[in-house]
Amino acid sequence: MQATLILVAVLGACAQAVDISLLNTPAVKARLENNPYGGLNIVFTRKGLTEVIAVIGRRTGAIKDVVQDSDVVIQFANDTTVRISVEEVSGARRGQLLTFTWEAPKSARLEDCVNLGTSHWYGGPQQKRQYWPIERLILPDYSYVTKEADNCGIAEPYWLNSEGIFYYFDKKVPLFIDQNDLEKNAACFIAQIKPPYSSKRDRNDLIYAIGIFEDVRQAHEYAVEKYLEKPTGIPDERMIKYPIWSTWARYKRNVDHDVVLKFADEITQYGFPNSQLEIDDLWEVCYGAQTVDVTRFPNMKNTVDSLKSRGYRVTIWTHPFINKGCEPWYSEALSKGYLVSSEYGSVETSWWNDNETTTAYIDFTKPEARNWYLERLMRLKNSYGIDSFKFDGGESSWSPQIPVLKGDIRDQPGVITADYVRSVAQFGPMVEVRSGYKTQDLPIFVRMIDKDTYWTFENGLPTLITTLLQMNMNGYSLVLPDMIGGNGYNEPPSKELFIRWLQANTFMPALQFSYVPWDFDNETIEISKKYVALHAQYAPQILGAVRRAVTEGAPVNPPIWWIAPNDTTAYDIWDEYLLGETILVAPVVERGARERDIYLPPGTWLAEGNPARRMQGGDWYKDYPAPLNTLPYFVRV
Ligand SMILES: *[C@@H]1O[C@H](CO)[C@@H](O)[C@H](O)[C@H]1NC(C)=O
Ligand SMILES: *[C@@H]1O[C@H](CO)[C@@H](O)[C@H](O)[C@H]1NC(C)=O
Ligand SMILES: *[C@@H]1O[C@H](CO)[C@@H](O)[C@H](O)[C@H]1NC(C)=O
Repeated sequence: MQATLILVAVLGACAQAVDISLLNTPAVKARLENNPYGGLNIVFTRKGLTEVIAVIGRRTGAIKDVVQDSDVVIQFANDTTVRISVEEVSGARRGQLLTFTWEAPKSARLEDCVNLGTSHWYGGPQQKRQYWPIERLILPDYSYVTKEADNCGIAEPYWLNSEGIFYYFDKKVPLFIDQNDLEKNAACFIAQIKPPYSSKRDRNDLIYAIGIFEDVRQAHEYAVEKYLEKPTGIPDERMIKYPIWSTWARYKRNVDHDVVLKFADEITQYGFPNSQLEIDDLWEVCYGAQTVDVTRFPNMKNTVDSLKSRGYRVTIWTHPFINKGCEPWYSEALSKGYLVSSEYGSVETSWWNDNETTTAYIDFTKPEARNWYLERLMRLKNSYGIDSFKFDGGESSWSPQIPVLKGDIRDQPGVITADYVRSVAQFGPMVEVRSGYKTQDLPIFVRMIDKDTYWTFENGLPTLITTLLQMNMNGYSLVLPDMIGGNGYNEPPSKELFIRWLQANTFMPALQFSYVPWDFDNETIEISKKYVALHAQYAPQILGAVRRAVTEGAPVNPPIWWIAPNDTTAYDIWDEYLLGETILVAPVVERGARERDIYLPPGTWLAEGNPARRMQGGDWYKDYPAPLNTLPYFVRV
């Protein structure tokens, strides 16, 4: 009754037959009211609290009419409409799903804001400075596309909060996010047709859903089922069990036949197992040739065979670029129209390896272009017996701007990322990619973008954990952490950082070495062996968690609130993570620390799985001892 009255007040003349109860359910009461921005607020009363869930619209102009069929449709004077529909969700997960579909002329800027409140928030874009939870992120008018800047290799338009509410944006929205910028403690979701979105769109759309559930876990489970999707299969099991050894951080571009053989021999000599040896940059005669440089690898078949006879599988690094001057491949791709072109007709762009010339980006949205690329790689694989590939890049920002891509204009530019990773995923379960755009269903590893060798949130060790959580809570749970110790772009890792990094990585789905334990000392070798063995020992549990990701969409490495979704203490813990639902990992990520505080959610826990060391959860353990050879972890009874 009260809600109806408020609506009358808001809508004035046209309020006659509006039944606002359409938006109401037993658990949630919703009403619309005017806001100071010349738009509407949608206000919910839930769990006895009234909260503004969304500011729907700013400067939308006067309300012209409110129509109601099975939905509520509000028409504004300036040719803008919003349709709000509501769906009751019942069954195992109970809640309510509101969908908002704004349509507006192409010049309109549609803006819906969410007060971040006192909740904690998860999801959001992958970031170089990956804070977790994400309400601390500052994102000024941030285009929501995969991009090189800020290591934003995954841009999943999904926000989830500790109250059990999620926001999910349709991929057709030309989305920007402004968080903690225009307004503090608010996230404004903006649809606007401006770069990097093409001006060829004929209208503006802002389409999204708000899911309101009993708790945060239910909300996320529902979002996975309905929007994010789950992987359709499991990646390679040997990559889960044993470390990948990459040439990249230790050798950078100085690789050749002798270097990789010597690397393999060292690994074996020091008694470490392997899933494969990855030959990274630089093996090509020029970038994009997909042709081996014989000055480095005079007989690649022989290199691969030699590695195989030593018990290594072999993968090589590759990418979607062709540098200008890399002939005849560049000219062939150009003449056949296989390169991404801008709206100005230019194919020229750049990447980190163009070496002061320019490069071009293969247009994976064109079937002929991707087949050309895939067939050449397949030939390479078959000629030398290479097992699989590390696929680098894939972000939409590598395109010459604004790219002209195939398909619905409203899927652009994100479609290039999706089409690239979907194409290369065809090489099977040993594939790794590093970008994602609504590709959670692929049964392949997604690598964290290169980490730096720091102890800080500047893309250093703490972000190994927070990126893991960020990816998992966007539905990308087949996470391949990057090199242990970071990439050493600034300086090589210290012994302590290397050991702490390995420990933090132990209960993640895979280990990847490039810096090696024997470059430090015997103690490092000994500790590294211990954690490589522990990782292998827990491989069945990792595999079990990966299988549950496939069957149920469960995160492999969730934040600890996953098993205690109403435990407010758990909500903002970023330096602990779970493997599945029964193993809690609390790595030391602080330089010099030999102890740390650990929070255990309710339950009985066994320290390091030892039945003699029972601990009661629901409490903090202050100054828990963690000398350099110790990773604190706990197994739930
Ligand atoms: C969390 O609390 C809500 C009530 O606010 C309840 O419906 C839900 O079942 C609780 N979740 C768990 C896992 O206990
Ligand atoms: C870049 O160019 C310089 C100078 O021409 C050359 O010495 C170097 O090897 C090139 N680097 C790569 C990665 O091609
Ligand atoms: C390291 O271990 C090796 C093999 O066990 C041994 O020969 C060597 O003396 C040790 N080095 C140091 C510095 O302890």
